[in-house]
Amino acid sequence: MNKHVVVLPGDGIGPEVTRAATAVLREVAPDVTLEELPIGGHAIDETGRPYPAEVETRVRAADAVLLGTVGGPKWDGQPRALRPESGLLALRASMGVYANLRPVRVLPGLEHLSPLRSERARGVDVLIVRELLGGIYFDGGRAREEHEAYNTMRYTTAEVERVARVAFWAAKQRRGHVTSVDKANVLEVSELWRDTVTRLHAGQYAGVGLRHEYVDSAAMLLVTDPTRYDVILTENLFGDILSDLAAVLPGSLGLMPSASLGDGPGLFEPIHGSAPDIAGQGVANPAAAILSVGMLLRHGLGNATLANRVDNAVNTALRSSPTRDLGGTTSTEAFTERVLEALSQTGMLSFEY
Ligand code: NAD
Ligand code: IPM
Ligand code: MN
Repeated sequence: MNKHVVVLPGDGIGPEVTRAATAVLREVAPDVTLEELPIGGHAIDETGRPYPAEVETRVRAADAVLLGTVGGPKWDGQPRALRPESGLLALRASMGVYANLRPVRVLPGLEHLSPLRSERARGVDVLIVRELLGGIYFDGGRAREEHEAYNTMRYTTAEVERVARVAFWAAKQRRGHVTSVDKANVLEVSELWRDTVTRLHAGQYAGVGLRHEYVDSAAMLLVTDPTRYDVILTENLFGDILSDLAAVLPGSLGLMPSASLGDGPGLFEPIHGSAPDIAGQGVANPAAAILSVGMLLRHGLGNATLANRVDNAVNTALRSSPTRDLGGTTSTEAFTERVLEALSQTGMLSFEY
């Protein structure tokens, strides 16, 4: 595989979990070249900007981008344009990755890691498709004055359609059902969202099941009845919140990878943040970052076989050696070793067969 991946470790636990992820990527795909560059707070410290122009140039030349996490208390007081998070939003915008896929799975044999009763956690397999380049995060009009501030949630039909197509496409590969989550009882922007999804569904995806839910109710149902969901399609801010909530189902934010897709190369990152409370201690769970390598192999480089090997190796490691966030004692480094060991075993198996 003659491919080039730009690696942006970022801040806090970002470099720790990215080290684990790149070790796995190197192991399964030694021909892929990796180029490490700064983003977020580190980039601010080195260049004065959270997403330097030189990094953007290299990102544009990559076949895929692997990101750690950005942000931390050191940069919290900065003006918004000079915050690490603004660098991440600019990265996503520059790559045009409008559909953020966040899978939430409780795998057989790992139900005990969920705080839910096992019978409720069993079989959870949800794909959240979060719109990533619109809504209240971007361009709708925003201001902060001393005693007044506003942000605007804004969508166009075209923006809703393109991400809805991804959700319907994903549902077709899965169990054939989409739940579109909005707040159409209150917000005009959600009315447009719901009308657009309904029209697209009737016109082109009538074979896929579609249900609409309000976001407040969906937040409750995601915890009390998670197996009702196959694909959840939702806008940017709702998707951000619901996906951290959904991380409770498998047991930790440290288990949640993501793939952000558009018309060009994809961006792959864990959904968690820089975890300043545990950064530098060597205890972060690198599973989300390693599973993001799985998504990079599957969606970014088109190699499902290698992706499956990575996913299976992570599952094996989770069974025997849970990290601290999952109630275990395994360090980041030791967990990564377990994954690499499991990879060499599956490698031997596939060789034997
Ligand atoms: P967070 O996701 O960093 O942490 C929330 C909690 O989850 C913490 O207790 C943390 O220790 C724990 N946690 C997160 N990932 C973990 C892992 N892999 N292993 C073990 N425990 C883990 O959220 P926060 O504290 O609200 O945000 C911290 C910083 O990260 C902020 O600056 C925020 O803006 C930034 N952030 C960045 C991203 C990103 O880069 N994609 C995402 C979310 C938050
Ligand atoms: C995420 C994060 C980001 C978001 C922040 C850090 C900009 O929370 O990736 O979920 O809100 O999209
Ligand atoms: Mn988030």
